[in-house]
Amino acid sequence: MSQKLESPSLDVLISESAIQQRVRELGRQVSADYHNRELHLVGVLTGAFLFMADLSRALEISPVVHFIQASSYGDSTSSSGNVHLSHALKLAGKHVLVVEDILDTGLTLAKILQDFRSYNPASLEICTLLNKNRSRTVSIMPKYNGFMIEDEFVVGYGLDLAGRYRTLPHIAVIQP
Ligand code: IMP
Repeated sequence: MSQKLESPSLDVLISESAIQQRVRELGRQVSADYHNRELHLVGVLTGAFLFMADLSRALEISPVVHFIQASSYGDSTSSSGNVHLSHALKLAGKHVLVVEDILDTGLTLAKILQDFRSYNPASLEICTLLNKNRSRTVSIMPKYNGFMIEDEFVVGYGLDLAGRYRTLPHIAVIQP
């Protein structure tokens, strides 16, 4: 279903059909890799809520689904680097796949990995929808990634600007 662009300054970067096709591919890949293991998907709220919903339903295996809350952005478009996590997950001995909307500075995923490793999961991997082509002070290597994009601010398909645009079915760039 299409949704009207809410502002003339939004340009479509990745179409709804391209996202859905890529999510199906990722679903097949993850299903093959975890076919003989119980998979715990951990979605990072709020940005990953749509990706998580679609990816989890694209799997040919039945995962256990969790969400955690991570906050690092206020109303601005740059990371504060101050990442707060909120969850009560028990991950010891579990096969964990963190599902994230976008890898930008990497500070959020670095914090999540550090936190999760302390629970001694059996395995711990990352699936990001988007990976920004930029330099980082932390090294994060997602095992699964939907799309590489340039270092620009994007919205839609879960990603917001000050709470807006999350429900767009595509990824868009905000023109200055
Ligand atoms: P980090 O900078 O990799 O820690 O990313 C932290 C969070 O900032 C991501 O999970 C997103 O929710 C948000 N974020 C980073 N880049 C963008 C963007 O281009 N648009 C919208 N949100 C973003």
